[in-house]
Amino acid sequence: MEKGIFFQSGVNWKRIRNIIAPTFSSSKLKLMIGPINKCGGLLSNKLVTKAKKGETVDVKHYFGVYTMDVIARTAFGLDTDSQNNPDEPFVDNARKLFATAKFTSTANLLSIIFPFLRPLLKVLDVGIFPSGPVNFFVRSIKAMIEERKTEDEATRSKRTDFLELLLKAESEEGNDIHVTNGTQTKVIKRLTVEEMIGQAFLFFIAGYETTASTLQFISYNLAKNPGVQEKVIKEIETHVGDREPTYDDINKLTYMEQVILETLRHYPPVITVNRKASTDVDIKGVHIPKDAMVMIPIYSIQHDPENYENPEEFRPERFDAATRQESNPITFLPFGYGPRLCIGMRLALLETKIALVCLLRRVRFAKCSETPDKLDFKTGGILSTKDPIKVAVELVPKQNF
Ligand code: HEM
Repeated sequence: MEKGIFFQSGVNWKRIRNIIAPTFSSSKLKLMIGPINKCGGLLSNKLVTKAKKGETVDVKHYFGVYTMDVIARTAFGLDTDSQNNPDEPFVDNARKLFATAKFTSTANLLSIIFPFLRPLLKVLDVGIFPSGPVNFFVRSIKAMIEERKTEDEATRSKRTDFLELLLKAESEEGNDIHVTNGTQTKVIKRLTVEEMIGQAFLFFIAGYETTASTLQFISYNLAKNPGVQEKVIKEIETHVGDREPTYDDINKLTYMEQVILETLRHYPPVITVNRKASTDVDIKGVHIPKDAMVMIPIYSIQHDPENYENPEEFRPERFDAATRQESNPITFLPFGYGPRLCIGMRLALLETKIALVCLLRRVRFAKCSETPDKLDFKTGGILSTKDPIKVAVELVPKQNF
């Protein structure tokens, strides 16, 4: 996991970021629409079944299954249907990974402050994530890589996913290769096998938990704010109707985007990010020495009344185009900021919107006796509730669309 881009800095980080960034170009995202729509269909079928039975739903469970299917299909070309296969090991292991993750344990803080302790902590099986599920993902990724290598040229050339990008960059040394042709030198970015596995593992975990949490908090906010939910539905009716949404349709759903952004302000799945000072610097009278770690409290910044009036109120209007234009971008950090901004942000927003389109054409979220008025959170680097969030899903007549 240490080889994952998240844990890299300097030239190493830049090399890896350059290799994986094309995964999220507009043309690649357009190709992902079909598989994501399929996952959205499976998700909405599942919640329709729940609605027919009048059961309340632990939303995080179904959204977690959805985001795992999306990442498995779009990044790794797997044909998973975890909604209908409760024993699907990807979802099961991802859940175990986060259920027992130790984001703030003393051992992990030690390993960040004293990197030389990492080998010892590894031997003692003290890591952020439990070793069983980690080994499952590493084994699966290795198997996927091997399988790809046995495919014929024609099949491989049709593949454009994240795994293929990694495979194209594979080399023994992981260094850049400089190819000179006449006066021009072309730099080819390379990755070692360990680095490939590190990025692939990180994608599974980064793509799973954060987006599932976001969808969970959105459904909770919609259940509590039926007027907002109706407005989102009207927008879907106007711009998409009952056909499969295209990339352009999705870009027209501006009110839905405001709802997503306000939810991310209210409940940012990642509550802090860190930066290490590369030089001595003074900011507003505070001296930050070179190499000091600075923790940026995303949750607190986004709940500060100096930045957001009545911050506990859910108001999607805070993110309409005019208000956004005037606001200071550094007060809204759910995806981080600067060159290290979340690389998967556009995919996360795309899959969140498609899930909402697929669902809100068929069901409504509503409060039930088990829906909490206020959420109670665990401590740690990831925003997770002490108890599962339960809401009711109600069937709507199809003729609405
Ligand atoms: C709503 C969903 C998501 C949220 C809230 C989120 C949040 C974040 C945050 C706060 C960071 C740190 C940024 C910084 O330091 O400035 C980050 C980095 C990252 N995210 Fe996300 N993320 C989400 C979805 C995804 C998805 C879907 C993927 C990939 C499939 C992904 C992959 C990554 C990677 C690889 C990094 C490290 C980037 C780097 O260090 O250069 N994220 N994310």
